[in-house]
Amino acid sequence: MILSQIVGWGEYLPKKVLTNDNLSETIETSDEWIFPRTGIKQRHIALKKELTSDLAINAAKEAFVNSTISPSDIDCVIVATTTPDDTFPSTATKVQHFFKMKDTPAFDIQAVCSGFIYSLQVADTFLKCGNAKNILVIGAETLSKIVDWEDRRTCVLFGDGAGAVIVSASEESRGILATKIYSDGSWHDSLYSDGGPSFNQKVGKIRMNGQDIFKQAVNKLSEATSKALDECNLSIKDIDWFIPHQANQRIISSTAKKLGISEEKTISTVKFHANTSAASIPLALSSAIKNGKIKDNHLIAMCAIGGGLTWGSCILKF
Ligand code: ACO
Repeated sequence: MILSQIVGWGEYLPKKVLTNDNLSETIETSDEWIFPRTGIKQRHIALKKELTSDLAINAAKEAFVNSTISPSDIDCVIVATTTPDDTFPSTATKVQHFFKMKDTPAFDIQAVCSGFIYSLQVADTFLKCGNAKNILVIGAETLSKIVDWEDRRTCVLFGDGAGAVIVSASEESRGILATKIYSDGSWHDSLYSDGGPSFNQKVGKIRMNGQDIFKQAVNKLSEATSKALDECNLSIKDIDWFIPHQANQRIISSTAKKLGISEEKTISTVKFHANTSAASIPLALSSAIKNGKIKDNHLIAMCAIGGGLTWGSCILKF
């Protein structure tokens, strides 16, 4: 049986770091307000000239270094992003061009913070259908460019970064065991950008009803994870590592508690990265592999929720 195995991983964070204390110099906020409510201490911020494609390319470069696959072996590129370089063409085509991947299909997936989980399901399906053998999947964001830096309710929450994985068709009994993806457009007004090419020909800024999102996040993340576990006849007790979307430490802890998995098994990078939307899970995954927590054959449960609402989950045998 073919399974979609993660055979490479990488990450990239812009050099510039903005701490809560730095933020309190420009807006009326403080580390004392931000940290207890969100678990965030700092976020990385891309320079004006640093584009989402630059972050994506740097994360992909590291994924190739950590893999035996080279760019010429890749037969599909998927970039999950809400902050593409341009309205069109896709950021994925810029990545494809940089690595000189001739005629390789490349496209972006727009599912906001769930984009990486959506992309894993698409990659898994392509690999299982035989449409590709090695797929580069990247979550990359420069959210700092669409944050309203005068809105303290939102600007403290987000950061920039990219994480990449190489997913290959494998006959080993390791890889993606289940993915579940969902959406419910009736929640549009709880989390959106107030701009768009068709709507007002602007990029727009992030607008959010934080309390709505908090409640939905805990329920939907835990339900989606339970459904994916059921699909592969596993229980939360079998899971070695839980990697939820890194939106907010209180959402992460409440979801882990609801599912019945300990804090020790829950990967959290939100303190250092803040919410990097589609990049948050691959960044957390890559850092947990690199620091030796995640080892071969470990069972991992990932889940995400974002604007749309969109949400989903993935069970992976690493
Ligand atoms: N610094 C200081 N004060 C602030 C700040 C800030 N950064 N932000 C809000 N406040 C003030 C508000 O102005 C308000 O004051 P007021 O009562 O005088 O008007 C007060 O704090 C309470 O504001 P609320 O917005 O009601 O604060 P809440 O307790 O809901 O906490 C938070 C806000 C942390 C965003 C919370 O709603 C939350 O965690 N929501 C989850 C949303 C999330 O993580 N979204 C990420 C994107 S979505 C995703 O990735 C899934």
